[in-house]
Amino acid sequence: MDLYEYQAKELFANHNVPVVPGFVCTDVAQAVAAAESIGETVVVKAQVKAGGRGKAGGVKLAADPAEAGERANDILGLDIKGHIVERVLVTAAAEIVEEYYVSFLLDRSNRTYLAMASFEGGMDIEEVAATKPEALAKIAVDALEGCTPQKAAEIADAAKFPADVRDQVIEILQNLWDVLIKEDATLVEVNPLAKIADGRVLALDGKVTLDDNASYRHESHAAFIDEGATDPIELRAKALDLNYVKLQGEVGIIGNGAGLVMSTLDVVAYAGEEFGGVKPANFLDIGGGASAQVMANGLDIVLGDPDVTAVFVNVFGGITACDAVANGIVQAVQMLADRGEPVTKPIVCRIDGNNAIEGRRILDESGIALIERVETMDEAARRVAQLAAGK
Ligand SMILES: Nc1ncnc2c1ncn2[C@@H]1O[C@H](COP(=O)(O)OP(=O)(O)OP(=O)(O)O)[C@@H](O)[C@H]1O
Ligand SMILES: [Mg+2]
Repeated sequence: MDLYEYQAKELFANHNVPVVPGFVCTDVAQAVAAAESIGETVVVKAQVKAGGRGKAGGVKLAADPAEAGERANDILGLDIKGHIVERVLVTAAAEIVEEYYVSFLLDRSNRTYLAMASFEGGMDIEEVAATKPEALAKIAVDALEGCTPQKAAEIADAAKFPADVRDQVIEILQNLWDVLIKEDATLVEVNPLAKIADGRVLALDGKVTLDDNASYRHESHAAFIDEGATDPIELRAKALDLNYVKLQGEVGIIGNGAGLVMSTLDVVAYAGEEFGGVKPANFLDIGGGASAQVMANGLDIVLGDPDVTAVFVNVFGGITACDAVANGIVQAVQMLADRGEPVTKPIVCRIDGNNAIEGRRILDESGIALIERVETMDEAARRVAQLAAGK
């Protein structure tokens, strides 16, 4: 889960990374009140989970409360890369002398953590990386050793931080490492980390990505979930404990096992090219021992997506034999009908593996006209793409 800047800064503050306190506001009156209580020049900052807010007009200075209200009025409702601004952070304006960049992230290809740092931070670190790679230091950080004072010094020196801020940066790097490890994040980024007029170094921006697989260890992180900005179908799937990801196409996909579902997405996208670019509408892995109830939940979620025009159930029976899966599909269709939500979209099924013959017989004899059984995965992908395209 990506966090908003104000949430990232909350974690920073908890781990002694210096930030400027601020107020999250959802309307103009709140922004005016926030600026009044801060009592000096403020910055009004769009809170969206997208980069480049400053360039898009989402970060503005305001000299007094009335101006803060005007700026909030400009920024609230703004569309920044497809994200509508629903709240702004009003925070004291810092007198910036220099802007730096620091981050920690997972370097998956090298199986380690990576620190990146530069004394040339600010808005365009991507450009620095592309045009002046020597100005962006990249230092591997061992997961078990962590960011020791020595490692932090190595990063600060490799990034050529000026001597007058070196000690502060070294401490901040260690505290940011704490954010990464203690909060189970996969990314912690500060751009800009700024030296201000009185010589202090502060995190003026913050990006944090939390590892959702570790959410069970952090009850407090639940408060960061922004239900309003999450796809409603994904929210329902999560409540049902399903591994569901919404995609942009028309073919609902249900399979057992993440690998099988991933390859199903590929074959459907490939087959869909022939029918005007039909694509998968979602990823849904119902897992190994999928009961009729789980299949019903899965079908319910997928069929509830208005974008879906046909469904592909692709199952390889292993521990759960195909006859159990087939019974699950038949019962699921029945359960939905009993609930007054009869299935109206075609369901193409390919089932193979343990007890496939019995499973196929159950589907063939179910008498459900909307279920169409196809022998191979490729043929099924082609057929479902064709149905989804209405051909
Ligand atoms: N509290 C502050 N006081 C003074 N200037 C600020 C403050 N916060 C941000 N700025 C200025 O605005 C610029 C952009 O702010 P920020 O880094 O938060 O947004 P951004 O980089 O445009 O957004 P993103 O990081 O999402 O791409 C900063 O580089 C800094 O110059
Ligand atoms: Mg920034």
